Amino acid sequence: MGIQQKSYSFRQKVAADQGWVLTFDDVICLPGYTDFLPHECNIATNLGPFHFESPIISAAMDTVTETQMAIAIAREGGLGVLHRNCSYERQLEMVKKVKRARSFIIEDVATVRPDMTIREVVKKMKEKGISGFPVVDYQNKVVGIITSRDIPFDSNENGTVDEVMTRNPVCLPANVSREEGLNKLYEIRKEKIPLVDADGVLVGLITKKDLKPTYPYSSKDDKGRLLVGLGCSPFLPKDPHDLEILKQAAAKADIMMTDVAEFYKKADMVAAKEMMEILDSKFVLGNIGTYEAAEAILTYGYPEDKFIGIKVGMGSGSICTTTIQTGVGAPTLFATAEVKDAIMDYNPKISLISDGGFKYPGDLVKAFAVGADMIMSGHFFAGCTESPGYIDTVKGRKVKVYRGMGSAEARAVGSYADDRYVKDSKKLAEGVSGFVSFLGPLKGVLDQLEDGIRNGLIYGGVKSIKEASKIRIARITSSGATEAQPHDLIN
Ligand code: XMP
Repeated sequence: MGIQQKSYSFRQKVAADQGWVLTFDDVICLPGYTDFLPHECNIATNLGPFHFESPIISAAMDTVTETQMAIAIAREGGLGVLHRNCSYERQLEMVKKVKRARSFIIEDVATVRPDMTIREVVKKMKEKGISGFPVVDYQNKVVGIITSRDIPFDSNENGTVDEVMTRNPVCLPANVSREEGLNKLYEIRKEKIPLVDADGVLVGLITKKDLKPTYPYSSKDDKGRLLVGLGCSPFLPKDPHDLEILKQAAAKADIMMTDVAEFYKKADMVAAKEMMEILDSKFVLGNIGTYEAAEAILTYGYPEDKFIGIKVGMGSGSICTTTIQTGVGAPTLFATAEVKDAIMDYNPKISLISDGGFKYPGDLVKAFAVGADMIMSGHFFAGCTESPGYIDTVKGRKVKVYRGMGSAEARAVGSYADDRYVKDSKKLAEGVSGFVSFLGPLKGVLDQLEDGIRNGLIYGGVKSIKEASKIRIARITSSGATEAQPHDLIN
């Protein structure tokens, strides 16, 4: 298909229409007129139906995103995509942990029986660090509630729960909203309310503590739980047990992201359709790198209610060797512009994620200027406290391991992600493993990236990520790129 010139043409903006494949280092954003105050600039964004206060995603890599990172980044308003270099069981376990991390509804409720001794309850309170339990009978029906306040000072610890518990406590139905829960807790001046089904069987618990908004910008689903993404193969597992586990993981994860180096392959595209029909989740498809690939995906007939985004970039990642190993690639800036044009032509509702190749916060602004809605990075986050792995020391500096998912080291874990590259090609590594500096907690790293984005938008004269596509871009010479770096200092 020939390249069209549209008024919004992002390909034109990065000279892709003239055959150029430009990278972040080749371009610069030009200053624009700013007629608003800094606090009016907002970096919130959307990915399909999901809202994010921060447009930043941590990559589905085994040295970047497991439970701890996914929780930390979602609390700060972004999204973590759990990696797939592990069993389906492990993926399910990770998703469950993230979904439990910040929920105003506790589903895994610790309980006690009426005939337990007070001594046993006190021990359980200490062990679990919990100050109260719903009391349930053998059918798991709520018969009371016991908190530390019910335990007498001169406790006859041999007495039973039954003697001191509050009988017939106020309960709420499982589908209670956050507001209803808060109002009821205030009305009855209690710390906890059990949630029950129509038969009075315990199905959850809400507590005053969990309803408090400790992370006001967190990315949440409609039940108040953190949003989480899950990296996946486009191919369904053949083993029925694995399939069952994957179905459960998909139903809990908010967004599944196909995690392959290049999705523009007939086999991947066909398989992904089958997968989307079977799994109950929203989907981001990728990675791709050209207008033609996006056009093929956008017109393929993927279920409209599930297909929410496309992820782009090939070979630009800091640990990638795909392009040098195979000669093929689509640098992230170029890929973003190409695919954004196709999205505008075929379905502007589809969101666009630029993945990999970012070295500086300013590169993120360049990606938004060519149409990205969100960005994904591994490089920025592999050195954080919350990434998997230990802190090591190299030449006196604290470091953590960061490795490509196609590196020999990542592949040595098992064949979980063999289809991330070309299926059945087992010998060719398409990534490397190395160290990155240890950076401390994620929050500090995110703050810097977000400040870079915000200030970039302000200098560019726009108030939001959506408006960032209005920022002008120009090519820069190599001497200009040198001048943009610190220079002429003595050390
Ligand atoms: P950064 O630049 O953040 O890029 O390090 C992260 C992205 O790189 C992709 N990725 C790979 N690409 N070989 C590749 O060619 C690999 O081994 C590899 N591992 C990850 C992936 O898209 C990630 O988000």
